[in-house]
Amino acid sequence: MKIVFATNNKNKISEVQSMIPKNIKLLSLEDIGCFEDIPETQNTIEGNAKQKANYIKERFGFDCFADDTGLEVDALDGAPGVYSARYAGEQKNATDNMDKLLLELKDKTNKNAQFKTVIALNFISELKTFTGICKGEITTEKKGKKGFGYDPIFKPLGHEQTFAEMDLSLKNEIGHRGMAIAKLVAFLNGFVH
Ligand code: IMP
Repeated sequence: MKIVFATNNKNKISEVQSMIPKNIKLLSLEDIGCFEDIPETQNTIEGNAKQKANYIKERFGFDCFADDTGLEVDALDGAPGVYSARYAGEQKNATDNMDKLLLELKDKTNKNAQFKTVIALNFISELKTFTGICKGEITTEKKGKKGFGYDPIFKPLGHEQTFAEMDLSLKNEIGHRGMAIAKLVAFLNGFVH
């Protein structure tokens, strides 16, 4: 059985491939000849994940899963959320995004935030979603060089380091994406032996 993981990130693919039954073969977007930009025009994280998984099913005929992630900040009513990648503009620059967020939160006492990942799986004509959430807070300055995106300004609950100061293995263990992937893997393992 073949399932497309709507990404071209080989590391992501081999990580998930190693956790699921051998008779499920994961394909990347490149593997199926999908080189176009997949539309992400919905106004929720869940909506975008579903849109991507459905797009691949409809255009290419493969069962597929797709992920979408956003950072939701309490004091900003959940912003940047689904707009996390382009919070400071279409250049999608991580430093600009962090600087904008730090400025917005400068005078706010409530720094609580959460990362949310939704994986949508279009599988045997059914659409399922798996959600992973990591709660934490936004720091007052950038710390750490690892990771990507907002990692230098996000400190997960119960930890003293930002995601960018942590080893990737710890981030994966406690993080939003790891949690959503674990739920997807549990579903696939229960379905196919
Ligand atoms: P995507 O849906 O995985 O492309 O994520 C959208 C945006 O959210 C990215 O461009 C990053 O700005 C941010 N983001 C997603 N995952 C993470 C993460 O694990 N750490 C920090 N930022 C992230």
